[in-house]
Amino acid sequence: PQSLRALGTLINLPIGSALTPQDITQWASISGGQFSVVTGANAMKWETVEPARGTYDWTDADQLVAFAKANHQLVRGHTLLWHNQLPAWLTAGVAAGTITKTQLWGLLEKHIFTELGRYRGKIWQWDVANEFFTDANPSGVNPNDWWVVNAGEGIIAQAFKWAHQADPGALLFYNDYNVTGEDGTNAKHDAVFDWVKKQRDAGVPIHGVGTQAHLDTQYGFDPQRFQQDLEHYASIGLKIAITEADVRTFVETTDSNQTPTDSLAQFAQPFEYSAMLQAAISVPEVISFTVWGWTDADSWVPGTFPGEGYACIYDVNQQPKQAYFTLQKDLELA
Ligand code: G3I
Repeated sequence: PQSLRALGTLINLPIGSALTPQDITQWASISGGQFSVVTGANAMKWETVEPARGTYDWTDADQLVAFAKANHQLVRGHTLLWHNQLPAWLTAGVAAGTITKTQLWGLLEKHIFTELGRYRGKIWQWDVANEFFTDANPSGVNPNDWWVVNAGEGIIAQAFKWAHQADPGALLFYNDYNVTGEDGTNAKHDAVFDWVKKQRDAGVPIHGVGTQAHLDTQYGFDPQRFQQDLEHYASIGLKIAITEADVRTFVETTDSNQTPTDSLAQFAQPFEYSAMLQAAISVPEVISFTVWGWTDADSWVPGTFPGEGYACIYDVNQQPKQAYFTLQKDLELA
């Protein structure tokens, strides 16, 4: 059987993963061998690259880009405008009033031009803006978002414009979770669709929507809705990337990445991975399929959802799970 990347290449669908520094240094053969597009799990976020004001640390981001080059992989840049993982000096300065709204705009502009300038021509897709809508009442951009409160909603469109100037060859994405019906409703999908359409109609350079696709076997995932939502985005000329796919399950709380206590999850997980990939294969506008980390050994899930885990396609010992084999089979049959 061939690698996921080899099979994906045959049907022109790059298969990707988020990578941590550990994935690159300890498990290079899988990180390099199975995937043809990579994303830094944290490497390119603002708090990582500018830990002190004006002091840059490109260690992890450079490592990711060099690894990708050595392994002939594409890179997804992630992410420029997000309320999370901002540098402490920035949030503290804004809170104290020592960074004004005008200065905040200037700092973001500098951040975007510095980072995109450094990697100009080396990044295929950038997640410019991330998670600006809430699940609860997504009638529009979240008015309580840190950026919306401190910089104004207009900063989002401006970020896309700066990113386009800084690296005109990069495809620019709006990225979010629960935008393809993951929670069983389409409210957030519709809100994001309307917003992105409005921005594009106004000339904002948004080329695609990233659906993170973090599933939970408890959610009652609906594959048809997932595919319909992909097609809906495609209908207005958007490209689509599956950016952070994983399928978490309830597990023993003492060891949150071991075999699920919910025995149905053993079946639901490979099924849901497979359904997402099959939808991605069926919609030509989907240009990449990325999992958010390939091994349970360093998945983000247990840290965020205590009692849940086992979300990845390889286990804690870097052995492929049923989910992996199902994806491989789907690609073989495509
Ligand atoms: O780097 C510090 C380290 O110095 C410290 O010792 C350690 C102790 O907790 O924390 C380390 O920082 C952690 C960081 O990951 C790097 O490992 C943070 O605590 C931890 O919160 C952070 O989690 C990341 C999370 O984003 C933060 O929101 C995950 O790795 C990362 O996978 C996750 O990715 C997000 C996407 O960017 C956006 N979509 C959702 C996705 C999952 O949350």
